[in-house]
Amino acid sequence: MVAKIVVTQPVHAEQLQRLRDAGHEVVALDSPRGLSPEELVDAAADADALLSQLTDKLTGDVFARTRLTIVATIATGFDNIDVAAANTAKTIVTRTPDVLTDATADLAMTLMLSVARQIPRSDADTRAHGTGPFQLLREPMGIDISGATLGIVGLGRIGEALAHRAHFGFGMTIRYTARSSHPAAEERFGASRLPLGQLLAESDVVSLHAPLNDETRHLINRETLKLMKPTAILINTGRGPLVNEKDLAEALRSGEIAGAGLDVFENEPDVHPDLLAVGHRTVLTPHIGSATAKTRLAMTSLAVDNILAVLAGDPPLTPVG
Ligand code: GLV
Ligand code: GLV
Repeated sequence: MVAKIVVTQPVHAEQLQRLRDAGHEVVALDSPRGLSPEELVDAAADADALLSQLTDKLTGDVFARTRLTIVATIATGFDNIDVAAANTAKTIVTRTPDVLTDATADLAMTLMLSVARQIPRSDADTRAHGTGPFQLLREPMGIDISGATLGIVGLGRIGEALAHRAHFGFGMTIRYTARSSHPAAEERFGASRLPLGQLLAESDVVSLHAPLNDETRHLINRETLKLMKPTAILINTGRGPLVNEKDLAEALRSGEIAGAGLDVFENEPDVHPDLLAVGHRTVLTPHIGSATAKTRLAMTSLAVDNILAVLAGDPPLTPVG
């Protein structure tokens, strides 16, 4: 069957060619901010498949008003998709886990080290003023990551890959929160599972890897930030709304915690102005957890594999759920 596939945002040209080579019609859109539900309904009115990204808003209305066989999102997170409505409409939803695990865990580790050693500030200072004379007592001093305690909120694939790096590479003590215990990780990393409050109180670095849903939205807020050590660093490479950004900015400003490394934001593409004002205590990156050439290609390729499989009548490779 010749299917119509709508691609919401630019992706690798050779991956679109794979869809065309299979005989399908491809409509490639260029919507850098993602498509609203109305735009998606218009664009996908007579489409069979959607190759989509995390900024597309796939609400219940979109599934009710289209006849999509498959939505393949080029992302591991799928909080932008009403999966229950997709199930009702019998639309298959797929995502791209695993292929981005290492790249994202690498970025979490990078942010941790960058905040602890104030790399952006040092870089800016060096460019502006040179190194100056070597000073043993140069302020501000960094924070040791080696040997520190890392609290991982959500021990999924990425959380576990971070635990591996942190434990074996940096000798960090691993604590985690999760809905169920992970005996294999406990054995491998000597990790222990703690309630969130205790994890926040005991960790030198807290890194967020939970999916975004009603239970996890604003998990980090004024009250939970108070539980953290004044020397602690918060890392978020998961989803922005896990954190109340205004509360975080206030905790950073008042010294309630020491710093934050953020790759995701509550209202992307915007960053809360209070966070920008905190200055060198934060390191901010623009949602680049999976942004290596190899990983982004693997994600697109996996999403295309899912579409080709489903349109050929085979089961999806990496369905949501
Ligand atoms: C990126 O944020 C993803 O979910 O893949
Ligand atoms: C993401 O795919 C995760 O499981 O952490």
